[in-house]
Amino acid sequence: MSTITFSPGSRTWLLSTPRSSYALRLDAGDAPCHLHWGAPLTMAQIEQLATRHVDVHPNSFGGRQVPEELAVDGGARYGVSGLQVRFADGTRALEWAYVDHEIAESADGVTLALRMSDRHYPLTVTLHYRVHHDSDVIERSVELSHAGAPGDGSGDGIDDGIDDGAIEVLRLDSAGWALPDREEYRVGHTIGDWAAETQLRREPVAFGETTFTSRRGITSHQANPWVAIDAGDADESHGQVWSAALAWSGSWRITVQRTPGNRVTLTGGFGHDGIGWRLNPGETLQTPAFAGLYTDGGFGAASRTWHDYVLSHVLPHPQEVRPVLYNSWEATGFDVDETGQRKLAAQAAAIGVELFVMDDGWFGARSSDHAGLGDWTPNSERFPQGLGPLVDEVHRLGMAFGLWVEPEMVNPDSDLYRAHPDWVLHFDNRQRTELRHQLVLNFARPDVAAWAHGWLDRLVAEYDIDFLKWDMNRTFSEAGWPERAADGQADRLWIDYVRNLYGIIDRLRADHPNLRIEGCSGGGGRVDLGMLSRVDQVWPSDNTDAFDRLTIQHGFTRLYPARVMSAWVTDSPNPHTGRAIPLRFRCHAAMAGVMAVGGSLTEWAEEDLQELKQHLARYKEIRDTVQLGALYALSGPRPTGVTAVQYTSTDESETVVLAWQPTGVLGREPGPARLMALDPQARYRDRESGREYEGALLTEYGLPLDLPSGDYASTLIVLDRIASEVQAAAAA
Ligand code: GLA
Repeated sequence: MSTITFSPGSRTWLLSTPRSSYALRLDAGDAPCHLHWGAPLTMAQIEQLATRHVDVHPNSFGGRQVPEELAVDGGARYGVSGLQVRFADGTRALEWAYVDHEIAESADGVTLALRMSDRHYPLTVTLHYRVHHDSDVIERSVELSHAGAPGDGSGDGIDDGIDDGAIEVLRLDSAGWALPDREEYRVGHTIGDWAAETQLRREPVAFGETTFTSRRGITSHQANPWVAIDAGDADESHGQVWSAALAWSGSWRITVQRTPGNRVTLTGGFGHDGIGWRLNPGETLQTPAFAGLYTDGGFGAASRTWHDYVLSHVLPHPQEVRPVLYNSWEATGFDVDETGQRKLAAQAAAIGVELFVMDDGWFGARSSDHAGLGDWTPNSERFPQGLGPLVDEVHRLGMAFGLWVEPEMVNPDSDLYRAHPDWVLHFDNRQRTELRHQLVLNFARPDVAAWAHGWLDRLVAEYDIDFLKWDMNRTFSEAGWPERAADGQADRLWIDYVRNLYGIIDRLRADHPNLRIEGCSGGGGRVDLGMLSRVDQVWPSDNTDAFDRLTIQHGFTRLYPARVMSAWVTDSPNPHTGRAIPLRFRCHAAMAGVMAVGGSLTEWAEEDLQELKQHLARYKEIRDTVQLGALYALSGPRPTGVTAVQYTSTDESETVVLAWQPTGVLGREPGPARLMALDPQARYRDRESGREYEGALLTEYGLPLDLPSGDYASTLIVLDRIASEVQAAAAA
């Protein structure tokens, strides 16, 4: 149960979640100041704490010391601004004035809207907070409104000394977060690249400003909009962790600041450096959510709190288990036709695949990445009667049908581009940089967005498509919108683009309730909480090498649940890395998420197909636990020695352990894996061998893994919880 309470005397708000508290108050000058984010505290304790937070300027050089809920530009503030505006008369900076607040209860949780304004100018700033009853995640966002009269132009004619002209919003973050005083601080985040996403790093927070960002128009190959900060003393199962993640699928910025006085704050939001948004009288600008959580249960508890939150409050169909899919990309590349796809579909159905997805190459003149993007009609040589016969065949084989699309893109060599060269992001007098021979359609334009929605809607309806893999294969460049340059609104495109993208997906989902979507951007280029609120799963990386995947999947599951992590079993040697890995290991790596198949099945030996079939059948038995259960990273990815992960079902009856040893160390036998969060009183039985273990011993001394010898050893162990003799006697 979560609550939000207000103490009028001290003008303090206390947000209480099941296992944490968050508090803020207004200071004498009405600035909304941060008070507490951490262990549960009462209002009385918070009010005592407030007496310690008096903002004394230590000298004439230091500036304000007390962190604010949104770090505005103005007064003696010298940190990174989370809100920076320029009013019509050229004045910058903001002076806070409290207006009112509203606390609203719903079945699901409680919200607080704290309405503030500028002391002089017609600007309202509403700070939004939301807590859910079953979660320690606090969702925050900001709404900025121009309170002047609409249509006023640059002055309302009323001699009140206030210019009602447009307000230029230079920066608007979703929230500022602050950590309590600790001696040390460490920040966890992910670094990456195409085919090398979500590699977890933990390093000391540098004094100064550390910015994690994307300036690319998409979210996340290089950095995911997520951080987890601890005092340098947390581990997987112990210690205080403060974590925050942004729900936005375009460019973004999160800055962690550590002052010379050793205070750590962070501020984050959409847009990279500035957002350049013009707010006209009557208009409102709403930020995406920047969610945060506190736990004292270490990095593992932080990840599970995120997973539960995503499963319960973010995903469109939270409790739905994802099917096993087959994707043709690595098998065929662009060489796609009806005969070949039918063959693959038959193979896929025979081994137990439930959803058959045809990837790139089915439309227009798309026989390579040089042409065709934008021309979304089936290629008539490859599919003489359209997609209908293939879709019917896939359905007849008992599988759902999925299709790859990349709606935001165009090849210059396409009918679409020849007809609408102005539809792409571009500047006058500048070249149009092609990446993968393609340009980005300006989805901020209403006509482009309407066109995209139109053909997608028709395609899904005509072919009864069950699943779309929605791809986006390049970053922005020359991000201009010449038609809006004249009225100074061209930079809107960074935000409008993402909003229109969201709008199209939301409409498709509403009109086709059975449609499921996989988010993809050259692998994990657009993985964030914003995307996850409208797709059912994501493609974490184009790198399907099972060894590399262990690293990528570990970083990925620090924030995102296994339920959204597509993982294909592909050919060996791997087409991307050339590494040869046994099928068993590849299957076990894929079982850690939403297991799928992406190999050239028609070329596989019969015995390999049979082995794969068995692994898929085994996966189906455990997938409820893997996808919806609690994930414990027992030992993170490492080149030598064991990497292991545990999943326990919500009712705790089933525990799945996956372990991999890419290569051993000096012939040493890998030790048992110490499991987590089992009932020490219960006994657990290995479903395959029948061996039984005491819960207390599994957590204290571990589960023997009995890994086969040799490189790329791996195992899957499923444990069923059975009553101990003590429990059985008590029950009798
Ligand atoms: C991207 C995707 C791949 C595949 C290709 C097709 O790279 O991540 O899975 O769909 O595009 O061109």
